[in-house]
Amino acid sequence: MSQGRILLVDDSVDLVDNLGEILEDEGYKVLRATSCATARARAAEGFDVALVDLRLPDGDGTELAAELHQASPGAEVVLLTGFASVESAAAAIRAGACAYLVKPCAVPELLLTVGQALRQVRLQAEREELARRAQLAEKLAAVGRLTAGLSHEIRNPLNAAALQLSVLERRVRKLPEDGQAALLEPLVLVRDEIRRLDQTLQDFLLFSRPRELVRRPVPLEALLRKVADLLSGDAEARLVQLVVVEVVPGTPAAAADEDVLRQVLLNLILNALDVSPRGGQVQLQGRAVEDGVELVVADEGPGIPPEVRDRLFEPFFTTKPNGTGLGLAIVHSLVDQHGGRVWADRGETGGAAFHIRLPRA
Ligand SMILES: Nc1ncnc2c1ncn2[C@@H]1O[C@H](COP(=O)(O)OP(=O)(O)OP(=O)(O)O)[C@@H](O)[C@H]1O
Ligand SMILES: [Mg+2]
Repeated sequence: MSQGRILLVDDSVDLVDNLGEILEDEGYKVLRATSCATARARAAEGFDVALVDLRLPDGDGTELAAELHQASPGAEVVLLTGFASVESAAAAIRAGACAYLVKPCAVPELLLTVGQALRQVRLQAEREELARRAQLAEKLAAVGRLTAGLSHEIRNPLNAAALQLSVLERRVRKLPEDGQAALLEPLVLVRDEIRRLDQTLQDFLLFSRPRELVRRPVPLEALLRKVADLLSGDAEARLVQLVVVEVVPGTPAAAADEDVLRQVLLNLILNALDVSPRGGQVQLQGRAVEDGVELVVADEGPGIPPEVRDRLFEPFFTTKPNGTGLGLAIVHSLVDQHGGRVWADRGETGGAAFHIRLPRA
């Protein structure tokens, strides 16, 4: 969040202009409204704190405050009243407002109240983010335990079946030529399906029971180039360019397991390729940050829709007809094991950008 967005609602155009200017001088973005109707429209653009007059030409300020509070639970409302009274304080509380200001309010008081409300908003957002992460971690752990057990149970009979199938294949190939084709066709189909199943199981295991990490210094640019090389065929097939942005010389290496990190990047880049338009670019970046290093995979796709954002790292969450939804769950689990962090936002490339923070070597 930057400086904060303030929705200012008062029937007096002069007052809205005055307060608006004061707040803008403090670096806030101000959305102005002089009626309930315009306030609703502007609120839809998103705000952190609303300053709402009690008396508005087309409605009641307390009702509007309650409405705004409901529509934007993460935001705070401050009521503006003409005079101080027990009633106005009570009305403010009933409307879910966090404070009220008596007009005409002194500038320091205005700024103090807005500042406090904003701090409240930010604390609330942080608390929610922490709770969300804790919930995800719990979910991942539970699914991890389940899939680890299940994968082992499935793997043994699957391997036995694969072995028998290859025996069968060898015997079929010894039959007279003309009888072979009819038998081989279904046989190969079954073999391919078994392979696919085995790959899925390997993914499960990777996610649920990551192997011990072998941490070494991993230079960022060399790593990115290696992974870009590995995927150059996939990228070419989709007419997408994989671009490794030059890493500033002297950037520290990551303290990481290179094989694991490669897997992480592979999953992210495969996703990026899936959403890239033809002729588009996927950018790979590495840089130093205050407490470690950061790797970024940024695409030119449509970005991440809000309804997907919260579920990205959930195992089995996918919007693709043939996806398993394990790619990002694996990424999360592996980065977590490194004591790092992964998140997504809108990239400078216009699409999604996935960031991985890791400790430096
Ligand atoms: N770069 C991206 N841009 C937009 N949406 C993305 C991006 N990466 C992932 N997503 C969304 O997140 C979902 C989950 O991704 P994830 O990699 O976990 O699974 P998947 O790609 O669907 O399947 P798979 O298991 O084959 O990787 C995707 O289905 C997609 O909706
Ligand atoms: Mg994927």
